[in-house]
Amino acid sequence: MSYNLLKGKKGIIFGALNEMSIAWKVAELAVAEGAEIVLTNTLVSIRMGTIDELAKKCNAQVIPADATSPEDLEVLFTKSMEIFGGKIDFVLHSIGMSPNVRKGLPYDELNYEYLKKTLDISAISFHKVLQTAKKLDAIAEWGSVVALTYAAAQRTMYEYNDMADAKSMLESIARSFGYIYGREKGVRINTISQSPTMTTAGSGVKGFDSLIDFSERMSPLGNATAEECANYCITLFSDLTKKVTMQNLFHDGGFSSMGMSYRAMSQYNKSFNPCDCKE
Ligand SMILES: NC(=O)c1ccc[n+]([C@@H]2O[C@H](COP(=O)([O-])OP(=O)(O)OC[C@H]3O[C@@H](n4cnc5c(N)ncnc54)[C@H](O)[C@@H]3O)[C@@H](O)[C@H]2O)c1
Repeated sequence: MSYNLLKGKKGIIFGALNEMSIAWKVAELAVAEGAEIVLTNTLVSIRMGTIDELAKKCNAQVIPADATSPEDLEVLFTKSMEIFGGKIDFVLHSIGMSPNVRKGLPYDELNYEYLKKTLDISAISFHKVLQTAKKLDAIAEWGSVVALTYAAAQRTMYEYNDMADAKSMLESIARSFGYIYGREKGVRINTISQSPTMTTAGSGVKGFDSLIDFSERMSPLGNATAEECANYCITLFSDLTKKVTMQNLFHDGGFSSMGMSYRAMSQYNKSFNPCDCKE
């Protein structure tokens, strides 16, 4: 059911790789809610993934951009404004990648060149997106920017590795830039901290199936799906949340407020052995 929450709004959506991507669900729903969108991803991901299919469905153009490149971002924002014939009302940053995770390097044996890449792609790119948009005055007043994050920014999660550091930085950028962009242009900036979700990026984390099962058992409402995450993003892009900014908003079925649940404890008890593990 559509509420027309984004009627007449125009947005840029980063990070739709394939139909499992959270950004894919957001793109579909944004259009269903009345928005016009531009889709973007790296050239490699455009070739590897199925974004063209999404573009057709959404009647959207795809503009390639590496989000770590200010030059690419400048082209993206300029072309998008030409396509829309005006400024942009919302932006979704749905980008994450860690070469350390990909190569299976543990947190106490990080490759620092890889770490720089993790931070650049997964966190600093958010600053680059915002700085480029502000320089070009590309985002309309009362516009809304959302980035996706994960609870490992606050709490240590086994095997989340240097992505935890990237997510902490991402959330901090939302606050620091949110102050400036809000004060000067009324643009709001928030992060949504999403449940573990079975996507290409998610499944790269070691033990991801167990993590999904654990957080499902820990969350009174269960894990939030990608479709539910899209619903939440739409409310943040809409005019119903005009005074929400600089927040890290948990969208996790209650996981972040739990310590231990009956369902998780019952499962744990089934295999109870005195703890002798180091990890
Ligand atoms: N899947 C989960 O469990 C989960 C949970 C919480 C938060 N998140 C976050 O959600 C976001 C989207 O991830 P997803 O789970 O939909 O996976 P996904 O793999 O579908 O999306 C990640 C996207 O990042 C893009 N990307 C990588 N490097 C880029 C670059 N240099 N420039 C532009 N784009 C680049 C990829 O092409 C891909 O489209 C990420 O920020 C991720 O950390 C995911």
